[in-house]
Amino acid sequence: MGSLLFLLGVLQLLAAARAAYKQWIPNTNFETASNWDKERVPCASDVIHFEKNKVLSVFVGSPHVVTEMFLPLNGELLLAPGAGFAAFDGSWDSGCGSGTVLRFADAEQRSWFDPALWQDVSPAGGQEPAGRIFSVDEERVPCQYDDVIFQPETSFRVNLDSSQPVIRLRSISLMGQELSSAEAWAEYLGGPLAPRQFHGNGTLQVTGARCPHSSGCACGNTQDGHRICASLLGAAGCPALPCQSPLRPLGHCCGVCGAVVTLDFTPDFDLQKYQDRVVQAWLSLPKYEGVQMAISKVHSAQTFLGLLPRGSVPVIQIVLVDGGAGEQAGTAAQQLATDLVGDIAQHGAALGISSSRMEVATGSTLGGHAGGRAARRIAAGTVLGLLSGLLVLGGILFLYRKGKLRPCPLRLHRLRDQAEDAASPEPVSDKGFDNPMFDVEPLDAGSVEEAPQELAPQAPPMFYLNPLYDPSETET
Ligand SMILES: *[C@@H]1O[C@H](CO)[C@@H](O)[C@H](O)[C@H]1NC(C)=O
Repeated sequence: MGSLLFLLGVLQLLAAARAAYKQWIPNTNFETASNWDKERVPCASDVIHFEKNKVLSVFVGSPHVVTEMFLPLNGELLLAPGAGFAAFDGSWDSGCGSGTVLRFADAEQRSWFDPALWQDVSPAGGQEPAGRIFSVDEERVPCQYDDVIFQPETSFRVNLDSSQPVIRLRSISLMGQELSSAEAWAEYLGGPLAPRQFHGNGTLQVTGARCPHSSGCACGNTQDGHRICASLLGAAGCPALPCQSPLRPLGHCCGVCGAVVTLDFTPDFDLQKYQDRVVQAWLSLPKYEGVQMAISKVHSAQTFLGLLPRGSVPVIQIVLVDGGAGEQAGTAAQQLATDLVGDIAQHGAALGISSSRMEVATGSTLGGHAGGRAARRIAAGTVLGLLSGLLVLGGILFLYRKGKLRPCPLRLHRLRDQAEDAASPEPVSDKGFDNPMFDVEPLDAGSVEEAPQELAPQAPPMFYLNPLYDPSETET
């Protein structure tokens, strides 16, 4: 009984952490047919060409007979036990004809941020129906609390070009060994293999840390979103969709038809438990057979009156899509979203959900999604209001510059006093004032727990230059 309880405890811990394992797919092994330009492994009568200036390490798993081999200037062959090369003298029938030149693939541009090169090998969470849970594109490459696996007995080369100062991970497995501390990783980086396996300006950082929140953690790849999408889409771009005004889920490269439900959460929210609830109660119903769901914590940019950026808050984003075509596109997803919002209205408090919003784009909704239009009208109103405000300010500034408008002497005097009294080396005269309307704090209750590095960079404090106030004149 005790051990059963222990096991349950461990399972629960795993569930809370939502441990995700992502495995790098391509390798630079000698025996991988796709690594050769003729799509086959060299045979005895072939001439083998490695590009002269490409740094490579190539894992060789078995013995080979070769006629001729051109090696790169810098690189290495990693020989498995029993592997090796012998020269072919032509004295026996190699069984592969007269031979040809085979060139080794260029692995230089295989990017860490290419979702197509990663495979999710997470231990399947008990109730996850195969193929029904998907990830938005930014979460298809390793996230900051993920474990990364390079398969044993493989060589590889990864381009780490990144816009993030460091690419955080929980652990990296190499050669069947898990490195999950900064020290172990530093030691590996100092070794001979790392420079041939990893190149580019990004830096991997192994933290050993799991996501500390039951509500999940944001992936952390937003800064490289453009890289992820460029790798994924290439020149082809996004496919045409059967719905007008497709939704743009955060972290996803292309628009989708279906529904996006956004949840504000309290510290009680448990992402894994909520996902299990949705799967059990709805996603597994026959009527939702074609619906797929992505659910994760994302940072949603906040705006002031729908226009000016003011930091971001963590929210739970649920993306629902279905395979429907034409008019039917997105209708099953919309129905499921409606069910979820109804459930939250009833049980939200107990689930740790403080509010929910729903956006829908289906093949039959002409010109957009519920709620979206009203929001757009408000935004348009705000733009007009601000524009007229700017015009008035501009007019005042113009008149003032022309000397037709003098600022009130009393106010000038007070400002000068403040500037002189200020002990700080940057007096008032420098930057203007902080607008209290643009205070980027406070985030909602659920965000208090967030680790600082998990917060997306907040908008810098905003300053106004007061057009009525010219410091060079007042200092005199
Ligand atoms: C790496 O180089 C790219 C341009 O190729 C640049 O945009 C990015 O900021 C650089 N990243 C780092 C961490 O220096």
